[in-house]
Amino acid sequence: MIPFSLLFFALVAQPKGNTPPVAVKDSRTLAMTPPMGWNSWNAFEKDIDETKIKAIADAMVSSGMRDAGYIYVVLDDAWMAKERDSQSRLVADPVKFPSGMKAMGDYIHSKGLKFGIYEDRGRLTCQQLPGSLGHEQIDMQTFADWGVDYIKMDSCFAEANGRFSSEHYQSFRKFINATGRPMILSISDFGNGAWAWGGKESSQLWRTSYDIYPYMDSVYSCAETSTGSGSIHPAFNGLWQFAGPGHWNDPDMLEVGNLKDNIPADRKIIADRAHFSLWCIMAAPLMAGNDLRTLNNDVRNTLTAPEVIAVDQDKRGIQGYKVFSDGGIDIYNKPLADGTTAVLMLNKGKQNSTVTIRWRQIGLSGTQPVRDLWERKSLGSFKDAYSVELGTNEHRLLKIGRTGRPLPTPKPIPTDKYIVSRKGVTYLSDLYYVWKSWNAPVYDSAYDGKPIEIDGKTYKKGLGCKGKSAVMFQLNRNADQFRAVVSLNKASQGVGTGRFRVYDGDFFSNRLLWDSGAISASSPGKEVDISLKDVQCLRLVFEGENLLGNWAEARVIR
Ligand code: GAL
Repeated sequence: MIPFSLLFFALVAQPKGNTPPVAVKDSRTLAMTPPMGWNSWNAFEKDIDETKIKAIADAMVSSGMRDAGYIYVVLDDAWMAKERDSQSRLVADPVKFPSGMKAMGDYIHSKGLKFGIYEDRGRLTCQQLPGSLGHEQIDMQTFADWGVDYIKMDSCFAEANGRFSSEHYQSFRKFINATGRPMILSISDFGNGAWAWGGKESSQLWRTSYDIYPYMDSVYSCAETSTGSGSIHPAFNGLWQFAGPGHWNDPDMLEVGNLKDNIPADRKIIADRAHFSLWCIMAAPLMAGNDLRTLNNDVRNTLTAPEVIAVDQDKRGIQGYKVFSDGGIDIYNKPLADGTTAVLMLNKGKQNSTVTIRWRQIGLSGTQPVRDLWERKSLGSFKDAYSVELGTNEHRLLKIGRTGRPLPTPKPIPTDKYIVSRKGVTYLSDLYYVWKSWNAPVYDSAYDGKPIEIDGKTYKKGLGCKGKSAVMFQLNRNADQFRAVVSLNKASQGVGTGRFRVYDGDFFSNRLLWDSGAISASSPGKEVDISLKDVQCLRLVFEGENLLGNWAEARVIR
């Protein structure tokens, strides 16, 4: 039998802060639904201090935000002093946070909220304050000592680290787990492909795009990279198949309440709600980014709408995916745990439009009940379809169908379509790329659609690029050799030079495997033949202003 005194000790000797410890193996269950909270960056950028953050924590409670589910209060960049202390520990900026970070965390916890903090895995943060590189272990321990529950780990300057993102974030996870304190790790890396290189091994959420700005164009573009074709081969219909309970695509923090678009005041709420509905249908983390001290009723009602939040927080954890996209009209579908489905019908265009969702697009038929989740009321039952007239930025967020067996999702793309799996030769143009930046390459032809031709020889397989094009293929260490012939299109004659480079790993690893040097249109084809020992992801980069470049017969050999 355990002596009573020991049992008592075991009950009270928990890590500081108000969250009980979870076993290390449980770190993948830290965010079974998308995390919700508030982050200081979008509202205040560098201009944060303890008075402000305390007032925000107070407002989280008094506004009803906390009770609506917003739990994390995250201090973004510029909370720290310029120098570490004599023992290399991070310290709070003594002017902005004179009581220190432990006291800040205690205050946040005293409000029934959780404490989040920002760091950067480079030498410096984006605001040029001390980064975590070389201090990973001590920083994770410092955060645990302060009672931190959530770490946003940024990537400014990280391209100089010479470390794979997967391995570096895993080392943070290892040091977090060693503290015994459960802390969410949020990857902030401008959409560097964490879904492909294994972000979920270390982290609960990862950015899918560059920073969001308070304009609807930016909101729509961040949404597009997560649910559209902006960052991955179009065959995937977005990133939905890489998200699920415990690991989420993060299209960045909310700009609800901040939008600066030149639209009449009475249409601001329409834009705010379109933004919020998009994040909820995408099962995105909901990190409010507005000044909660001056929250008006419209914004509060938007951020706390219970039936809309319930779509985001649905236990099944499916990220909504597009079932229709044309002429500025998008329709998303998100099958829910209770057997119904959430549907977002959105007009991003400039014209009014009649938008129709047909039951067959969402796996239903016959007559189905339809509920409006903003109005919180039933719209009645409809046979085969539901139509609505929508103006610019207008949308409907609906719950359709009856409760019962969960509806099916589309089939995820089988892994052998995008990960090298078989022995022998695999042409890269027989695989879907898993990340891209700038122009997408075209498959099995030059960019202009004509056959790839180099030194009089025509190649059936290969990738055709234009201007600037970076693509990543997932090898999972299943390939030994990469071969290709590179050249510029003849038509590019006389307009400067292009350059082809092959890298091992994600953007931040910066490990160059091969470099063509400057190539002109009159240069003969150049052969690439390199070893790929232990390469998880292969990244091909073509750069040539307005030029067309070809990776002929780009292939890996196992
Ligand atoms: C960016 C990051 C922003 C914010 C900012 C702070 O890199 O994407 O969300 O954290 O740094 O300097």
